Amino acid sequence: MIVLGIETSCDETAAGIVRRDADGAGTVLSNVVRAQLEDHAPYGGVVPEIAARAHVALLDRVVAEAVSQAGIPLADIDAVAATTGPGLVGGLMVGAMTGKAIAFAAGKPFVAVNHLEAHALTARLTDHVAFPYLLLLVSGGHTQILAVRGVGDYERWGTTIDDALGEAFDKTAKLLGLGHPGGPAVERAAASGDATRFTLPRPLIGRAGLDFSFAGLKTAVRLAAERAAPLSPADVADLCASFQATVAGIVAARARDALVRFRAETGVAEPVLVVAGGVAANGAIRSALQAAAAQAGGTFVAPPLALCGDNGVMVAWAGAERMALGLEDGLDVPVRARWPL
Ligand code: KG4
Ligand code: ZN
Repeated sequence: MIVLGIETSCDETAAGIVRRDADGAGTVLSNVVRAQLEDHAPYGGVVPEIAARAHVALLDRVVAEAVSQAGIPLADIDAVAATTGPGLVGGLMVGAMTGKAIAFAAGKPFVAVNHLEAHALTARLTDHVAFPYLLLLVSGGHTQILAVRGVGDYERWGTTIDDALGEAFDKTAKLLGLGHPGGPAVERAAASGDATRFTLPRPLIGRAGLDFSFAGLKTAVRLAAERAAPLSPADVADLCASFQATVAGIVAARARDALVRFRAETGVAEPVLVVAGGVAANGAIRSALQAAAAQAGGTFVAPPLALCGDNGVMVAWAGAERMALGLEDGLDVPVRARWPL
């Protein structure tokens, strides 16, 4: 089955095409992502109305590129999938309308995809991971630990009680004058920094449960920055490195606890820990999770960098997985700003 996927829930205009074989194996046929960085740069964050207008301007060309990169006629596509939530409603409407129009014109089924589910299922495309597995979903809007038992079958074991992890990276970057999006900028600055220079708090760690909290950490970075002011580039690097090492330690500690619970509840001897979402691109976080999984007797799977941030491939894949279960949607399916897994 070949599926076209469209992603417009935030500030990436993206389309991708995947093939899913009957045995569940997946192949990426094309992946086109246009970030709208310059459009939002003057505002220091994503402006919903600007994002929606940029999606209108870019999406047709992005889809055409995805089709030509795949080297197949549109007629060979078996279904069209689009993200219909959660996200910014204007952008979601552009992607959903475009996907529905293509599906209608081509006489193919339409699949409405939950953006979080698309992140959650990516490891099944890239690494053929079998259910059940443990998922750490870390993006700009979400920070969750989920037991993934099947397509559409998710149990949330932990979530953030304040900021998402990507948001904490973005706010730290803004505070240190590093621009948006903050994650990659913080990681770059941290590369030359001393992670032991600043001792930052690890909120909730040591307490029972699998929830996260990052707001206090952000405040601690601000206070440390104020004490060290005026900041030299070396100070900024040390702050970034200390922040990054602290959050890597936090997610690793939670992942270890979650793996222990996962083994106890599922009876799976060697559980698989999957990381997904934009923050999954972070090298320090990937290595901390790799070590945590090894310590807990599990294995660790991280998608390739190109599939960590928002993309159309993950939407196409989630659509293919749903289609394989007969879960197509009508053309009247609405978009949803909020849509928990
Ligand atoms: O999944 P995503 O592309 O969009 C959402 O669904 O939110 O995640 C975007 C988030 C942003 O907060 C961005 O700063 C963060 O992922 N991010 C990173 C890195 N690359 C992107 N955070 C830390 N390190 C990175 N290398
Ligand atoms: Zn995302």
